[in-house]
Amino acid sequence: MYHKTLDDFPKEFLWGAASAAYQVEGAWDADGKGPSVWDQFSKIPNKTFEGTNGDVAVDHYHRYKEDVALMKKMGLKAYRFSVAWSRVIPDGDGQVNQAGLAFYANLIDELISNGIEPVLTLYHWDLPLALQERYGGWESRKTINAFLKYCDILFTAFKDKVKYWVTFNEQNVFTTLGYRLEAHPPGVRDLKRMYEANHIVNLANAKAIALFHQMVPNGLIGPSFGYGPMYPLTANPTDVLAAENGEALNNSWWLDVYCKGQYPKVIFKQLKALGLAPTLEEGDDEILKLGKPDFVGINYYHGGTAKVNGFEDTEEAVATDKDSNVTDPYLMQNNRSEEASPEKVMFAVVDNPYLEKTDWGWEIDPAGFRVALRRIYDRYDLPVFVTENGLGAIDELTADGEIHDDYRIQYLEKHLLEMKKAITDGVEVIGYCAWSFTDLLSWLNGYKKRYGFVYVNRDEYSEKDLARIPKDSFYWYQTVIETNGSDIN
Ligand code: BG6
Repeated sequence: MYHKTLDDFPKEFLWGAASAAYQVEGAWDADGKGPSVWDQFSKIPNKTFEGTNGDVAVDHYHRYKEDVALMKKMGLKAYRFSVAWSRVIPDGDGQVNQAGLAFYANLIDELISNGIEPVLTLYHWDLPLALQERYGGWESRKTINAFLKYCDILFTAFKDKVKYWVTFNEQNVFTTLGYRLEAHPPGVRDLKRMYEANHIVNLANAKAIALFHQMVPNGLIGPSFGYGPMYPLTANPTDVLAAENGEALNNSWWLDVYCKGQYPKVIFKQLKALGLAPTLEEGDDEILKLGKPDFVGINYYHGGTAKVNGFEDTEEAVATDKDSNVTDPYLMQNNRSEEASPEKVMFAVVDNPYLEKTDWGWEIDPAGFRVALRRIYDRYDLPVFVTENGLGAIDELTADGEIHDDYRIQYLEKHLLEMKKAITDGVEVIGYCAWSFTDLLSWLNGYKKRYGFVYVNRDEYSEKDLARIPKDSFYWYQTVIETNGSDIN
């Protein structure tokens, strides 16, 4: 596109960083907190890397003041964190634990008094265990009511202090990993159940947004979706159609529901033909329409590339196809070929020959970030909030007591440049939260895979001293924020 120069980032642009309760807080049973599904699941042998769990994590619960002081030093404008539902309501549905609520009140006050905008995620995967055991978690509509009660408590408590809210973090990821691939709680492998549970989460999302708009008229709310654009492998129209199928199944299946209040019709029809479509009860269509978000949150790591699979028949696909067709690498490792998956008759996922990968096999695709921002803005006409983007890497604490993560700086810089181009193209972007502020527990990869601007001195085997050490990327991002990204060109 023709741009004489790139536009400046908006004056009030929210330069941020993100985290999630289970990955940073620790204090898993402190001050009346109830257990979450992750507290249980992570302790099942062989579920996580080296058996890591979030019992202590990086102890943010006890060290939040130190962490916020570092955010202030960095000049951070926004901090995205999640609330652990079972810290606030230990059994998910009963009495409020005032001590748990007080932790978030203190964190929010600490952020505000340091000039940092809190961005509050209501649900980042840690469902109260009691709701899983009592109702069957997201497979029951009773969990929607419990969620609304929890939302009501947080909206009431923080509506005058928190402007930006996120409903669900990566619904596409937690439903897929939890109900399709047994890799997250509740450890189910059943596609039909996945689509049913996903529908219930959609209803919870829409109802929570409707409630928010009644209770917090001055706030802004949206989901954070794990978005990756799908590309065709070649210009062969059959590959192009495969990529359209991939885009519709992997992305529009969720985003259309959030933003248009309805499932994409073609995919719904296809899932119905495969016996996988969710059950819509009377009134559900209307509920989905209630939940239009104020912005679309996206977590961008990578996209996917599709080619035609050549199967128009499920029997044949199941018998012949031995390739994995799921876009995400860690989904791919787990996908079972005998499953009658909807992908097999619609598209096959292949490596993109133009892209390099991280140590964990995630494609590095900065230009795809611009594609993502453009597609979402064009389709849904809503501002976009980048709620996650970052590089998972092995960081080394060198003899000089520092971490020279120039690879992370390069990665982030390239992504910021593409975001700036997208803004210059005309996309309205509210802010950018890098993943993550401090190092934190990776759900399945322990502490080996690090994302933070701040190194935390611990590993899978020892908590060590949990010291916070700013990495080179910390100082780089500090300058980006100070100059409002003017050097990103
Ligand atoms: C996103 C999640 O999927 O990716 C984060 O919202 C997660 O919670 C991040 O940590 C990186 O994933 P991983 O598996 O590399 O830790």
